[in-house]
Amino acid sequence: MLLLAALVLTPVIGTAADKPGAKKSVKSSIKTPASETSEPTFTNKPVATHISAAIAALKADPEAGHQINGVCAACHGDSGQGGKKGEYPRLAGQNVEYLMDQLHKFKDRKRTNLPMFPYTEERELPDEDLVHIAAYLASIKLDTSFPVFKESDDALTRLLAVEKVLNIPRSEGDVDVGAKIYKTECSSCHKKDGMGHKTVPMLAGQYTTYLKRQVEKFIKGERIHDVDMKDPSKDVLNLLKPEEIRDILAFLTTLDD
Ligand code: HEC
Ligand code: HEC
Repeated sequence: MLLLAALVLTPVIGTAADKPGAKKSVKSSIKTPASETSEPTFTNKPVATHISAAIAALKADPEAGHQINGVCAACHGDSGQGGKKGEYPRLAGQNVEYLMDQLHKFKDRKRTNLPMFPYTEERELPDEDLVHIAAYLASIKLDTSFPVFKESDDALTRLLAVEKVLNIPRSEGDVDVGAKIYKTECSSCHKKDGMGHKTVPMLAGQYTTYLKRQVEKFIKGERIHDVDMKDPSKDVLNLLKPEEIRDILAFLTTLDD
């Protein structure tokens, strides 16, 4: 809540650049190739109501967000769809507060991310730009069914369109057992539908390999799952058996069906 309040009070782009010696923001320094200008902007497609309300409250600039995304797209895809089978997580439709919180954590080195290290330095991603990129990504809603192609569509067009469809393949495990454990152990925070809330991330529609990697990081203590917990080794993920985690992940792959 504090974070949100602080962001609402943060001046929007432009004001910072007026200060003497202020670095140019990404908005003015990145040129987007003309071919990318047809990207979705805010309210292009309906997003979950709680997300659109949060985005509206932030007074973010969609065009600035779109331009900053030119940098992120190299790894996360031009619609935030992620890539390389989960090496790069999906960001589209993720909760706006969570995106901002994580970007702050990367910047403050509270969450290690070597591939993204150069892109989160103040010079590349000034604080005043976080709100624009987070709101832009949160506002993207990916299609969940495969497009119908025209005969004239070439192989590349088809490939690019298919990559943007949100369709997580079923992973190995007992979905019913996973659903039960998820309900008792995870849903209080990540919500029944796996969409999370505020700084708790959406898990539904995220790549299984990415989620598994994060669970492993939490268990090893390389990333903190519950910041309020005094002893991270007592975290719920440390108390579950590997088969139980496998079953939860299998259940999560059913949520976008
Ligand atoms: C060079 C590749 C690369 C670029 C460019 C990049 N990222 Fe990432 N990003 C990654 C990788 C890899 C991860 C996953 C790290 C991990 O496994 O913990 C990640 C993770 C994230 C996460 C955490 C997602 C989650 O669910 O917790 C956010 C948010 C994010 N990136 C935002 C951005 C934004 C915004 C940009 C552009 C300003 C950007 N990234 C540019 C590689 C990249
Ligand atoms: C007390 C609330 C809470 C509970 C219960 C909880 N989580 Fe989380 N979870 C969080 C928060 C908060 C984060 C973000 C952590 C951070 O700030 O980096 C998170 C992050 C995650 C992530 C990383 C997602 C990403 O995009 O990087 C995974 C995976 C995850 N949780 C799985 C689970 C599973 C599985 C359970 C149940 C066994 C569970 N969580 C229970 C609060 C919770």
